Amino acid sequence: MKTRKLRDLEVSAIGYGCMGLSMGYGAAPDKAESIRLLRHAYDIGYTFFDTAERYAMGANEMLIGEALEGIRNNVVLATKFLIEKSDIGDYSRENLFRHIKGKLEGSLGRLRTDHVELYYQHRVNKDIPVEDIAWVMGELIREGKIRGWGQSQATAEEIKRAHAVTPLTAVQSEYSIMERQFEADVIPVCEALHIGFVPFSPLANGFLSGKINADTTFKGIDARRVITRFDKDNIKANQPLLDLLHQFAQTKNATPAQISLAWMLHKKDFIVPIPGSRHRERIHENFVASDIVLTQEEFTAIETALSTVQIHGNRSDEDLAKLRTLTAD
Ligand SMILES: NC(=O)c1ccc[n+]([C@@H]2O[C@H](COP(=O)([O-])OP(=O)(O)OC[C@H]3O[C@@H](n4cnc5c(N)ncnc54)[C@H](OP(=O)(O)O)[C@@H]3O)[C@@H](O)[C@H]2O)c1
Repeated sequence: MKTRKLRDLEVSAIGYGCMGLSMGYGAAPDKAESIRLLRHAYDIGYTFFDTAERYAMGANEMLIGEALEGIRNNVVLATKFLIEKSDIGDYSRENLFRHIKGKLEGSLGRLRTDHVELYYQHRVNKDIPVEDIAWVMGELIREGKIRGWGQSQATAEEIKRAHAVTPLTAVQSEYSIMERQFEADVIPVCEALHIGFVPFSPLANGFLSGKINADTTFKGIDARRVITRFDKDNIKANQPLLDLLHQFAQTKNATPAQISLAWMLHKKDFIVPIPGSRHRERIHENFVASDIVLTQEEFTAIETALSTVQIHGNRSDEDLAKLRTLTAD
């Protein structure tokens, strides 16, 4: 099994994003099946599991706590907190500490553990100084309740300021062949400061698997109904990208999903993607992508080919907010 380091945290080179087991991509598997999938992920070598208090209002953490009972100490657990303005009276450090510690205690209870290795701020609040959050994280590290901390979708500036107070273990942000905005500054800053980078949606919500086409329909509370890269016209317009991935996949006896993951693993050794799937064979397909090693020549050929392709649509928090207006049928 290949491992990587997120600062001083050793994890499997590919982690398992658990969100879809509880929400986000239409009907979730039942609890027994989800537990089987999580155990399967562990059995084949995943040692890095990603969740958040927010995923199905804690239900995802509860699922993971139950599934990993007995093997918890063999894995690295990452969860996240989100500060909603309405939840908290004032933003003094003491109040922030009390509030975030309360959230963490809730997560630890659901996860059936006394600590997590990685605790991310799910979104950086623009009205709270990042230094204050970093200070709170330092206190929680000193108490032994978290081993390290991270930010999600943070800017390079926010990363530098927070890191100066309490060093960050990892930054988790959207990154894939279809979404490369953080290549410009965030990934270089992570490299310079020895912070791990954890791409979420590394398969662009499954699009890069090549298993979705303009005839695919999404039902219920499924993010792909509001993410613009899944608009029918955009799916068609993005076909040249899939053609290219299929072509490289063929030469490596791999799948488009595996080439997409191998591409980012080749980029930097501190990048650890966390694809998520609710299918046994895909969980395996994604995991063994770390065995597909691209030569420098192959990587350059992919980069050159990608530079000729235009990407249509994206995933934004604003579009995802529209999910609330969808019905579950
Ligand atoms: N920090 C944040 O704000 C944030 C935001 C989003 C996600 N996350 C975290 O990042 C994790 C990964 O994000 P994501 O779930 O969007 O990642 P993703 O792997 O890009 O997309 C997941 C989707 O792709 C499909 N898929 C995955 N592997 C596949 C394969 N080999 N072949 C075909 N389809 C495949 C899955 O469908 P099936 O399940 O049907 O296979 C699912 O619908 C989440 O689970 C969550 O832990 C964090």
